[in-house]
Amino acid sequence: MPLKSCCIYSIGAFSLVMLIIGISLVLSNVFPNVFQSRVKTEVVLRNGTEAFDAWADPPAPIYMQFYFFNLTNPGEVLDGERPAVVEIGPYTYREYRPMEDVVFHDNGTRVAAVNPKTYIFQRNMSRGPESDLIRTVNIPAMTVMERFKDNKVIANMIAAYMRSSGIGLFTTHTVGELLWGYEDVLLKILKTFMPDLDDIFGLFYKNNASSDGDYMFFTGQQNYKDFARVDTWNGKSSLDWWTSDECNMINGTNGASFHPIISKNAELYMFSSDLCRSLYAVYTNDVTVKGISGYRFVPPFEVFANVTVNPANAGFCVPAGNCLGSGLLNVSLCKQGAPIIMSSPHFYQADEKFVQDVFGMRPKKEEHETAIDINPLTGIILQAAKRMQVNVYVEKIPDFSETGNVRTVVFPVMYLNESVLIDDGSAKKLQMIVVEKNVVENIPFMFIGVGIILGGIFMFLMCRQKVPESTSAERQPLLSS
Ligand SMILES: *[C@@H]1O[C@H](CO)[C@@H](O)[C@H](O)[C@H]1NC(C)=O
Ligand SMILES: *[C@@H]1O[C@H](CO)[C@@H](O)[C@H](O)[C@H]1NC(C)=O
Ligand SMILES: *[C@@H]1O[C@H](CO)[C@@H](O)[C@H](O)[C@H]1NC(C)=O
Ligand SMILES: *[C@@H]1O[C@H](CO)[C@@H](O)[C@H](O)[C@H]1NC(C)=O
Ligand SMILES: *[C@@H]1O[C@H](CO)[C@@H](O)[C@H](O)[C@H]1NC(C)=O
Ligand SMILES: *[C@@H]1O[C@H](CO)[C@@H](O)[C@H](O)[C@H]1NC(C)=O
Ligand SMILES: *[C@@H]1O[C@H](CO)[C@@H](O)[C@H](O)[C@H]1NC(C)=O
Repeated sequence: MPLKSCCIYSIGAFSLVMLIIGISLVLSNVFPNVFQSRVKTEVVLRNGTEAFDAWADPPAPIYMQFYFFNLTNPGEVLDGERPAVVEIGPYTYREYRPMEDVVFHDNGTRVAAVNPKTYIFQRNMSRGPESDLIRTVNIPAMTVMERFKDNKVIANMIAAYMRSSGIGLFTTHTVGELLWGYEDVLLKILKTFMPDLDDIFGLFYKNNASSDGDYMFFTGQQNYKDFARVDTWNGKSSLDWWTSDECNMINGTNGASFHPIISKNAELYMFSSDLCRSLYAVYTNDVTVKGISGYRFVPPFEVFANVTVNPANAGFCVPAGNCLGSGLLNVSLCKQGAPIIMSSPHFYQADEKFVQDVFGMRPKKEEHETAIDINPLTGIILQAAKRMQVNVYVEKIPDFSETGNVRTVVFPVMYLNESVLIDDGSAKKLQMIVVEKNVVENIPFMFIGVGIILGGIFMFLMCRQKVPESTSAERQPLLSS
């Protein structure tokens, strides 16, 4: 009897100890913290870490898809009608973007690199060959006309040349030429007067197998939040195209890597050299990609909103004070003076006016927004799609009869969708980390669980020991009498 109750009481004591340990582990958050600090020390750009390998040569396949807008009514547009366009695409390229010339600096706290991108055409994932013809606005001609519109003498000479050689406001070229470059007749003539001029024009001319500039990144060794953050680009820590210091800031990573331990209220900053600016994305919803849970981050409406909605965007109005409205960005200064306006595809989230101005624009959230799905523990990208549209600002220029009676319009030329989906190998590795995290995080609950089970056993044994004693004490007299 004493031995038995001693045993029962030690079960009770043990259950209490387990509960106390379990609850204090839960409250102190020790296991998740240990796990997170391990992730923080491993996600660093250091030769030999997995994070470095994935940064230096992304294992997941990246695809760049181009969609062009084919103009169907050029004659009517010159007479002042609304342009009507048909979307044609995709033309898909596999994109390879390894980091090259990687050199560590300052005891491994910063790393210099260039990021050349190579594009290989994928006929089987494209609507047609690169030789498909697209009729669109003549961007070199529009650029030249804008540039000399205030100089009547030169404008008249150029206008005469354009008329004599049949150069108009619209032109037809192949997809390959429009992207990777073609020799332009007008630029070629001008080159005889201006030898510095390049007579090749293409939307992605010189972008194949060449880098977009020299980067210096933080490695994240000192602070995990600095992982892969851009310190300088082409030796400068800010841009000079915009009219406020805030807008000229280079914020965040290059958009291909993010720091680990991301919370739902984080603002993820990234710098995009194609867009000529930095921007940020915020959490919108939970997603599951290949069985791994993640957070979806999307640039909020305010990022591209007009100055009424977001006064900080005044710095993106160039020249100062000349604001184009929500959803549009004048990148002329960063594209060698060409009258290029960036927007989201089909003017998604831009002023309704721009959508109405061109027949054939159908903005859709799912197809046209930029979205990044991230595993919040590791910062690894599960899936992403960066989408943007290249437009040309077209207006009537009196000295050039080629512009006819065209109405002022932001004319869509092409939009791109640069996308990535995590590869199966990386997904499997990430899955294991997630499982390990769940197991580690559940250890305190295991203590509590064992504590509760032992507590139950303890109560049960206590009751069983007490009940027969009391009943026998009461019944015995009854029986004997
Ligand atoms: C990383 O280490 C390997 C082998 O130890 C070496 O060949 C390579 O050059 C190093 N890379 C950098 C960027 O230091
Ligand atoms: C880009 O360059 C690579 C190698 O230099 C070449 O194989 C590929 O065909 C080029 N792509 C385009 C679209 O010109
Ligand atoms: C397209 O062709 C390439 C080889 O050229 C192949 O690797 C790829 O799997 C093909 N894709 C599809 C969707 O058929
Ligand atoms: C684009 O429009 C032009 C002119 O109508 C036509 O010749 C061409 O075939 C169209 N392109 C495609 C890919 O349909
Ligand atoms: C850069 O970040 C700062 C705050 O860190 C912000 O005030 C500024 O607006 C950002 N600039 C851009 C272009 O995103
Ligand atoms: C700015 O955008 C808001 C919302 O899209 C719109 O209501 C407002 O009229 C715009 N303001 C100007 C000046 O365009
Ligand atoms: C775009 O910016 C350039 C350079 O500042 C300027 O000359 C041009 O007029 C602007 N375009 C529009 C449509 O405001």
